[in-house]
Amino acid sequence: MSNKHTILVTGGAGFIGSHLVRLLVQKYPDYHIVNLDALTYAGNLANLTDIEEAPNYSFERGDITQQAFMQDLFRKYDFDGVIHLAAESHVDRSITNPLEFVETNVLGTVNLLNVAKEAWKGQPEGKRFYHVSTDEVYGSLGEEGFFTEETPYDPRSPYSASKASSDHFVRAYFHTYQLPVVISNCSNNYGPYQFPEKLIPLMINNIRENRPLPVYGDGKYTRDWLWVKDHAAAIDLIYHQGQTGETYNIGGNNEWKNIDLVHKLCDILDELLGRPTGASRQLITFVRDRPGHDRRYAIDASKIRDELGWEPSIQFEEGFRQTAQWYLDNAGWLQGVLSGAYREYYAKQYS
Ligand code: NAD
Ligand code: TYD
Repeated sequence: MSNKHTILVTGGAGFIGSHLVRLLVQKYPDYHIVNLDALTYAGNLANLTDIEEAPNYSFERGDITQQAFMQDLFRKYDFDGVIHLAAESHVDRSITNPLEFVETNVLGTVNLLNVAKEAWKGQPEGKRFYHVSTDEVYGSLGEEGFFTEETPYDPRSPYSASKASSDHFVRAYFHTYQLPVVISNCSNNYGPYQFPEKLIPLMINNIRENRPLPVYGDGKYTRDWLWVKDHAAAIDLIYHQGQTGETYNIGGNNEWKNIDLVHKLCDILDELLGRPTGASRQLITFVRDRPGHDRRYAIDASKIRDELGWEPSIQFEEGFRQTAQWYLDNAGWLQGVLSGAYREYYAKQYS
């Protein structure tokens, strides 16, 4: 045990978690950052090789649903704060296997809340339980409007229902037990180290391999895309300066219809791969729609901008070029995560 400010990051070997862990380890040499991850199919320590030897970083493999394990971890490290990202995160998988999402996202979060409450009992001063959530809890928008922090919850997929449930439990622990919580709900992220089951890395990988680009339904579903490092910066800011008990929406102010986004990716990759303009667009294939597919997400991020001064640092064009280039330069990383299990999932999902 030490006097250093010690933060538990759950899910730190995943996509967003690995960017956050890197940011915290590099920015705060005086902190101790403990990354707890079960290393499911989505968790990958190869995301963190550049910082794994840092003296202010530790990795623990374990499952947030395991009570005794989590109690031991809190005893071992005496955490000052928790930043909770561990989750099952892919909507399509939640449609196939909703119970897994209840287990990790709901039961895992409640277990973590409970263990933190017990460990910090009587002295919540200076502690912080930060729950990282999604804009999908708010449901689906029509052509107009934005999600604000006051938008009523209306989750429509097993994934978003499980995240909404976890958000409610976090607020319940604030009101009932005065656990010092803070929550953020963010729009779709993109960038390096994202598992290639999600739209952008899946499309980049398929373009690279000259494989069909599966666009769901009419392709006019809309998402608001945020550069993952901007999300990590927002989490850092909220962890340190956000008001206890408050919620902050985080978004990229960067809406794209899926089909327009895929066209854009095709054009940028044609350029980067030296293919004739329009070649990759030929790979686009409209496929069966996702059941219960939310039409549009869009975030009003004025609260975090006005109260904490956060804004996205880069726009999609630049962020996407960097992302596309990263996946081309890191083909070894992609091969590493495209394991047998993922190939099986892919064959079933797109059959
Ligand atoms: P991810 O799937 O890439 O990573 C999840 C991580 O959690 C993995 O490393 C996995 O091994 C770990 N994990 C899963 N179950 C666990 C368990 N039982 N115990 C310990 N670790 C476990 O997810 P992501 O895209 O990085 O998302 C991280 C968080 O951010 C999630 O809570 C997600 O709901 C939220 N979020 C994601 C997005 C997005 O666009 N990806 C947007 C908003 C919010
Ligand atoms: P996804 O990356 O799964 O994120 P989310 O569903 O959490 O927003 O999907 C983003 C959008 O892309 C969503 O509207 C579904 C669509 N999509 C496709 O059209 N084809 C695909 O193969 C995938 C994975 C997603």
